[in-house]
Amino acid sequence: MTNKICIAGAGTMGCGIAFCAAQNGFDTILFDTNNNVLLNAKNSVKKNLDFLIEKNKITSEEKSAILQRFIFTVDINDCVAPLIIEAIVEKPEIKISLFNQLAAINESSSIFASNTSSLSINLLQEGIPNPERVAGMHFFNPAQIMKLVEVVKAKQTSDAAIETIMEVCKQMKKTAVLCIDAPGFIVNRVARHYYLEAMKLVELGIATFENIDEIMEATGFKMGPFKLMDLIGMDINLAVSTSLYEAFNHEPRFEPSPIQINKVKDGELGKKTGRGFYSYS
Ligand SMILES: NC(=O)c1ccc[n+]([C@@H]2O[C@H](COP(=O)([O-])OP(=O)(O)OC[C@H]3O[C@@H](n4cnc5c(N)ncnc54)[C@H](O)[C@@H]3O)[C@@H](O)[C@H]2O)c1
Repeated sequence: MTNKICIAGAGTMGCGIAFCAAQNGFDTILFDTNNNVLLNAKNSVKKNLDFLIEKNKITSEEKSAILQRFIFTVDINDCVAPLIIEAIVEKPEIKISLFNQLAAINESSSIFASNTSSLSINLLQEGIPNPERVAGMHFFNPAQIMKLVEVVKAKQTSDAAIETIMEVCKQMKKTAVLCIDAPGFIVNRVARHYYLEAMKLVELGIATFENIDEIMEATGFKMGPFKLMDLIGMDINLAVSTSLYEAFNHEPRFEPSPIQINKVKDGELGKKTGRGFYSYS
């Protein structure tokens, strides 16, 4: 079992995953190529810790101890750890290139886990030395709150890598569910229709997006589909829709909605840009 984790990508997901790691006792290296993102991540970690103090969940001494476990860096040479979780941009060639750079500076036993929502872990493995160390570790947004992690075993992933990831999830107090590499894994495949059918209703003029959110929340869903898409990010959500559509040979039930395509074109990506279906100040 490892006591050090490196997270590559300090955006929405990477920041939340790093928070879980440091909060649960791991020395945590948080790496991003963009210094501003890293500064925002640092502020967001501090804010989350202050919130936990306010709620009497942690003491200020614990806050200091958690902060001390963090290294925030823009230097890839700092990314040396037995487990590296990548949460960078959803582009296979960029993820493969990052893993290759990390392979050059890490032991061959270092595990590389991808937080991808939509890419094939089998595909990522093919481009990397020691592919048996590559697996999926799919956290949900917001990662510091959501309990579920899909642990994805690809064709060449070793049992030892999966075992370590499972233990890390346990120490992070997550509920880990193992699945075999397949388009959308479990949750994104099932949930795709939550988003796509909801957008179809709006397209057909059957209901407004606000009304759909309201009724879904009234039936017990924690978040309506449109609020959830804003939280996830329209670009990320569209990437998942597109990738499932491709993977299922353009089956109409997985076809991306023009609504989400236009939102991405207009840069209305949701909470992270201040505007998606809703506006955020
Ligand atoms: N947003 C979600 O709800 C969600 C949920 C589960 C999984 N994911 C997955 O997590 C990953 C990240 O998504 P996100 O929403 O956090 O994206 P994001 O855009 O918020 O953050 C991505 C970060 O990666 C950084 N980056 C890009 N290239 C890099 C490189 N080569 N090295 C280091 N950093 C680099 C960017 O500067 C950016 O800060 C994607 O694979 C996505 O599919 C997203």
